[in-house]
Amino acid sequence: MDDFDERNREFVARMGGDEAVRRATREWFEATYRYEYSYHFTWLGRPVIQYPQDVLAVQEIVWRTRPELIVETGIARGGSLILSASLLELIGGDGRVVGIDIDIREHNRVEIERHPLAKRIEMIQGSSVDEGVFRRVARLAEGRRRVLVMLDSNHTHEHVRRELDLYSRLVGAGGYLIVFDTVVEEMPAEFSGARPWGPGDNPLTAVREFLRENDRFEVDREIDDKLLITAAPGGYLRCVRD
Ligand SMILES: C[S@@+](CC[C@H](N)C(=O)[O-])C[C@H]1O[C@@H](n2cnc3c(N)ncnc32)[C@H](O)[C@@H]1O
Repeated sequence: MDDFDERNREFVARMGGDEAVRRATREWFEATYRYEYSYHFTWLGRPVIQYPQDVLAVQEIVWRTRPELIVETGIARGGSLILSASLLELIGGDGRVVGIDIDIREHNRVEIERHPLAKRIEMIQGSSVDEGVFRRVARLAEGRRRVLVMLDSNHTHEHVRRELDLYSRLVGAGGYLIVFDTVVEEMPAEFSGARPWGPGDNPLTAVREFLRENDRFEVDREIDDKLLITAAPGGYLRCVRD
């Protein structure tokens, strides 16, 4: 690590521990959440439901870990699939992306399939926690040591916990498993509206339970401290042993 990296690390750690910065971030988050801030972006033409900071963090992880396969649960309009495919294209090699969604709308499928990066993408329609769906994904992961998993589908505790149990098996030491929308735990209950998740029942509660019972993963706090604005606080999990 050179002086520049060391200095950055020091500032990031101090910033992450700065209560005033944390408070301001949370206030900003709450003030913009009601305007559906994360819905307003596209990646290479497709709507991507992510915070720009998380997009940058995913790019850093892809560059650092060079995944041979990226597995994503929750496709929506496909922006995150295109993002993953574009990163794999840029780093070279023959890395592939597989996306799973319980409801792939026809117009979204058409747009994804005719995108210039479609050659790297496979889509599976079905529930991410369906055993048959998982077996199909596991077959695609066979022989690929470096797998990156991103969970962004149904955000209830029960669903994410099951996804964690299944998809964590695909990730080896040095790899990452990213759980989105852990931020729901920090947001006022009314922000979740009529959805079946909310404070107390969401991706973060699932991650906490998973980590209590699993010693292969730990939270990469440096990413949290650096991003501050993220839909996945405590959701960047690094695999520390096979
Ligand atoms: C937040 S969106 C995904 C956003 C996408 N990752 C992006 O960044 O643009 C959630 C998606 O999860 C899907 N979904 C809901 N329940 C699911 C399940 N049981 N299995 C797979 N996908 C599911 C929904 O159909 C929806 O398209």
